[in-house]
Parts: sequence; C-alpha cells; structure tokens
Amino acid sequence: MKKKILVTGGCGYIGSHTVVSLIENNFEVTIIDDLSNSQEDVIDSIKEITGIKPNFLKCDLKNKDHIDNILKYHKGFEAIIHFAAHKAVGESVQNPLMYYQNNLTGLINLLVCAQKYNINNLIFSSSATVYGNPESLPISEKNKTQRPSSPYGNSKKVAEEIIEDLATASKDFSAISLRYFNPIGAHKSGLIGELPTGIPNNLMPYITQTAIGLREKLMVFGNDYPTKDGTPIRDYIHVEDLADAHVKALSRLLNKSQETNFEIMNLGTGNGFSVLEVIKTFEEVTQQKLNYEITQRRSGDVPKLYADAKLAEEKLNWKAERTLNEMIKSSWIWEQKVRKQL
Ligand code: WQD
Repeated sequence: MKKKILVTGGCGYIGSHTVVSLIENNFEVTIIDDLSNSQEDVIDSIKEITGIKPNFLKCDLKNKDHIDNILKYHKGFEAIIHFAAHKAVGESVQNPLMYYQNNLTGLINLLVCAQKYNINNLIFSSSATVYGNPESLPISEKNKTQRPSSPYGNSKKVAEEIIEDLATASKDFSAISLRYFNPIGAHKSGLIGELPTGIPNNLMPYITQTAIGLREKLMVFGNDYPTKDGTPIRDYIHVEDLADAHVKALSRLLNKSQETNFEIMNLGTGNGFSVLEVIKTFEEVTQQKLNYEITQRRSGDVPKLYADAKLAEEKLNWKAERTLNEMIKSSWIWEQKVRKQL
C-alpha cells in the first residue's frame, strides 16, 4: 500500500517538483492548492513526467471548514508537506496583513485540522531569510535567527515558532522545518518550472525573462558590497535537489528517526555565487548576451548568505548535487519552452 501524503501548494514551483519526486518514490499524493500563484495544468505536466496523476482539490487554507471537510472525506494521510504561502518580499512590505493572514492563518487552520484528524507529521517550507544578516558564514542551524526585514520573512520565522510550540505541547506531533537558500532551476523534462506572475522579484527569472526579450534589462542591485566583485553572494540550489531533500525528510519522519520532534535543517549547496558570477555563467552556458546595468542597492539585501549544509547531509543522507551550470541551463530551457506556449 502506498503511503498517502497531503501536499499544500503542490501546484507551485517547489511544490510541483516535490510532488514529482514523491510519486517517483512511490507515495500517493493529494495536492491542495488555491491556484493563487499557480496553474492547474501543472497536474497534467506532473502526469506526463511520472505517468501518475496526483489527486487535486482546490482549497484556500484560510477557509478552515473547507480543510476540515477535505480531511473528513479523504482519510489516511500519513504526513503533510506544507508549501502553500505567499512569497513576494516586496508585496509583503506593502501589504503585511495580507501576508500574515494568508501564511499564518493558513498554517494554523491546517494544523488545527491535522490535529483533529490525527495527522501528526509535518514538513514545513521555511527560508534562510530567518537568519537575517548573519554574523558568521557559512550559516548553520545553530546560528541565531533574526527578525527578517520583510513580513514575508517574518511569517516564516513566526510559523516555525508556532510549529515548535505545537511540537513541545504534543509529543505525538513531529515536524521538520526546511530552510531553503535560493532555489532556482527547473525540471530536466522542461515540463515544470518557476512561473512568476508579473515582474519577477528574484534574480534567475529576471535574467531569463531579460534574455528572452520580455524585460529590457536586468538591474543589478549594487556593486559596492564587501564581496569579491562587490555584488551580493547567495547559495543557489537546484529545485530538483530541494525536492529530493523533502522526500528524505519525509522518510525520516515516517521512520521515526528524529532525535527531537521538531527539527530544523538548512537546504543549500554550501557554495556562494555573486550576482555577476551568475550573470557570467548564464552567458557562458546559454551563449546569450545579457543586457544589464548596475544600479543602487535594494533595501533589505544582505551582502552574503550561504549555508552550512552538513546537518542535512548527516541526518537525511542528502547532498545537493547539481551544479550552477545545470541550474541555469534548466532555467533557460524552461523559459524558452514557456514563452513558446504563451
Ligand atoms: C538574489 C540576488 C539581489 C533581482 C529572496 C527571498 C528569500 C527567498 C529567495 C523565497 C540579490 C540580486 C535580484 C534583480 C538583482 N524567498 N538581484 N537584480 O533576495 O536572496 O532571496 O528569494 O521565496 O526569502 O528574500 O533572492 O533572487 O531576489 O536576489 O541584482 O532584479 O540578486 O540584490 O543580491 P534573495 P533574489
């Protein structure tokens, strides 16, 4: 019998890649997603990749009765992987309540219902943004968190605290929070990838949209940081590596291998690349000249952030394997494919 897993936000960027990985590892997946930042046809692409169509139910996690109803009629989930959340940093600064309402009310509703129906395993999609501007690098899970500079980031930090409190109160409940560094790339099939609505906030979709002619030029936000070439350094990680880590974390939960019932793990490669290095690699890998210009810093950006990823390696037997070249190549293949379809 396949184990049943509920994936919230499973039509989204990281969620859809994780669903593929779950199906390939013989789990039965049910996705709930409000489609606020994703499309239902992702389900068909997942079927094309894996040969299996995941179950899909449209559901907004702000509606607790709806979640309750779903869990009343769909029994037997062994775990929840919770991706569903808003994630645009700038938008969250403009509209903090929308972010707290969606990301935190959604989480609380989900947990209340999960408790009611006895679903006691959770994997939470967190972010390296909870570290703020770190004092030392690489940054390990032992480093203190800081109040993130955006409501989006803070919603991730508070969400972790809520989950930790529940784990303290209920010994039956187990959770792993995965702190992602900078996920980029797309599935090797070219069938799923990141599809930002409107103007992208993040570097990689901005680069690919510029190269394809959708944006005039990339603005590089500052070259006066204390780094090798003055541009900020980040730990870019391939979304397929990230997806595999979720399956390993899930197995750890289901096998009851945890040391404590709330664990936190960084998901990064441990390598940092500057913005200019990413641009240069993009130009080499794709043979495209990128139009870009150096402008002022973007507020809230930290100079350097890269992971100490040893804990996940030790506890999950997982290591990010794909190179920056592979990440960029897959992002570019995906961008070209998407634009042909639109
Ligand atoms: C990377 C670098 C920019 C765009 C954010 C969130 C984090 C996580 C990942 C998840 C920075 C520079 C970017 C552009 C640029 N969120 N840049 N021009 O800021 O490290 O992390 O995304 O959902 O929580 O905070 O990622 O891709 O936005 O930026 O120069 O047009 O690229 O200044 O140095 P960031 P990013």
